[in-house]
Amino acid sequence: MSSPASNRRTFAIISHPDAGKTTLTEKLLLQGGAIHLAGEVKARGAARRARSDWMKIEQQRGISVTSSVMTFERDGITFNLLDTPGHEDFSEDTYRTLTAVDSAIMVIDAAKGIEPQTRKLFEVCRLRSVPIITFVNKVDREGRSVFETLDEVADALALDVVPMSWPVGMGGVFQGVLDFATDTISRPEGDSREFLGKREPATADNIPADIAEEIELAKAGYGDFDVEAYRHGDMTPVYFGSALKNFGVAELIDAIARYAPPPRPQPSESGTIEPTDKEVTGFIFKVQANMDPQHRDRIAFMRLVSGTFKRGMKLTPSALGKPVAIHSPILFFAQDRELADTAEPGDIIGIPNHGTLRVGDTLSENNKVRFTGLPNFAPEILRRVALKDPTKTKQLRKALDDLSEEGVIQVFYPEIGGQWIVGVVGQLQLEVLISRLEAEYKVEAVLEASPFDTARWVKGSDAALSQFADFNKSNRAKDRDGDMVFLARSAWDVSYQQERNPDLTFSATKER
Ligand code: G4P
Repeated sequence: MSSPASNRRTFAIISHPDAGKTTLTEKLLLQGGAIHLAGEVKARGAARRARSDWMKIEQQRGISVTSSVMTFERDGITFNLLDTPGHEDFSEDTYRTLTAVDSAIMVIDAAKGIEPQTRKLFEVCRLRSVPIITFVNKVDREGRSVFETLDEVADALALDVVPMSWPVGMGGVFQGVLDFATDTISRPEGDSREFLGKREPATADNIPADIAEEIELAKAGYGDFDVEAYRHGDMTPVYFGSALKNFGVAELIDAIARYAPPPRPQPSESGTIEPTDKEVTGFIFKVQANMDPQHRDRIAFMRLVSGTFKRGMKLTPSALGKPVAIHSPILFFAQDRELADTAEPGDIIGIPNHGTLRVGDTLSENNKVRFTGLPNFAPEILRRVALKDPTKTKQLRKALDDLSEEGVIQVFYPEIGGQWIVGVVGQLQLEVLISRLEAEYKVEAVLEASPFDTARWVKGSDAALSQFADFNKSNRAKDRDGDMVFLARSAWDVSYQQERNPDLTFSATKER
């Protein structure tokens, strides 16, 4: 633990709505001393949902970034918790945020197990081998058997699981959580049955016989925790707890501090950039725009990869090619935005700008590094864009190019037929698109159904590609970089083409 980077833990929480992400976030921040009032994150989360985020931001002028990144410190470790927007706001932002973390906590509901959104987000983590710590929440309520949950995680996600704790009963007979590392039970107290700090050594007297037997079986059956296997993304340690009643939260923070990887090296076109490299480098993984047309300022979120950033220093964004001074970077703390003076690898910096910074940009001192691997994801919703005023075609093209560069949408230009197609992974992106077209580009457009269901980037030899292209004119398009895309009518369509064209790959992601 010598360099500042080695003391950073940059992570996200992935979960299905209602599993308890907000509650857990609040408890992590409370334990980390970042907030002092219970309910604060919840209130903010609720208020944010009520405002329906993007759509109402334009009425406010301000840019709501407060909960995008939450930073807290404990025992010499700086934790950067990145918010992955939940259900309604589900979009590429959610996915891309996961490209900026070094590890994730997967929260699942003890009664519900793995739910669809958990699985989706997990797949993104797997793409980059992001290690995952599992937190089985709500053990104060009735839940499935512990074995059932463990086996589901193992089967559904194809991961080795290792229980690190065990609930002593659940629901009506919940008597606490046994932590394997310390062999102590955290006990519920008072009317609220919360964990208030009371721990007892585990003995034959305070663990019911049937549970003692389960634990014996589990310890023999699941093997030992292997930190290397976890860091490779092959194994997940599983903690049980109750965010609401504060069980398992301290163990979780300890686990992140102890096992979760510090900032990792990032792949670039010219090789791997180490967090210990002196040059300041980073990449933009998210841009949040202010929708008020009078205030075209945006916040670009940069993940620092190497070097020690100092306020006012000049960095060159790869897309711009000339240096800009970063005078008012923002570091995020739970309560306030604060002006950052310095930041270390693993930290996130908010950079106000007027549209110069784009998702996927590399920022560096020497303008030589180009980070790779910030993916585009296959859209799950495809729509045709129709103009209300056909003379605005040029403006529309510019807008679609801009917004796709910013990562708001993806755009596909079909080989045949004039109507452009936009693709998104979440419904909210479509609403954002329509209102930004009107507000910023004065283009009135409507979105119409398209015959396509999803898209795949097609890669292969020139010969194989041109053969494929000849046969599939009507469902071929180019993305904004001119790369070939197969527009598929269904998932079946994709596998059919894959079978017929074994020399081609049909990829659901494209790395930039
Ligand atoms: P989310 O961000 O993942 O969507 O979930 P959130 O934390 O908002 O939690 C969803 C619901 O589950 C909330 O109840 C919350 O209080 C409850 N919850 C979270 N963790 C636990 C836990 O460990 N045990 C129990 N029993 N409940 C838990 P709600 O009724 O929807 O909201 P609220 O009115 O209580 O705030």
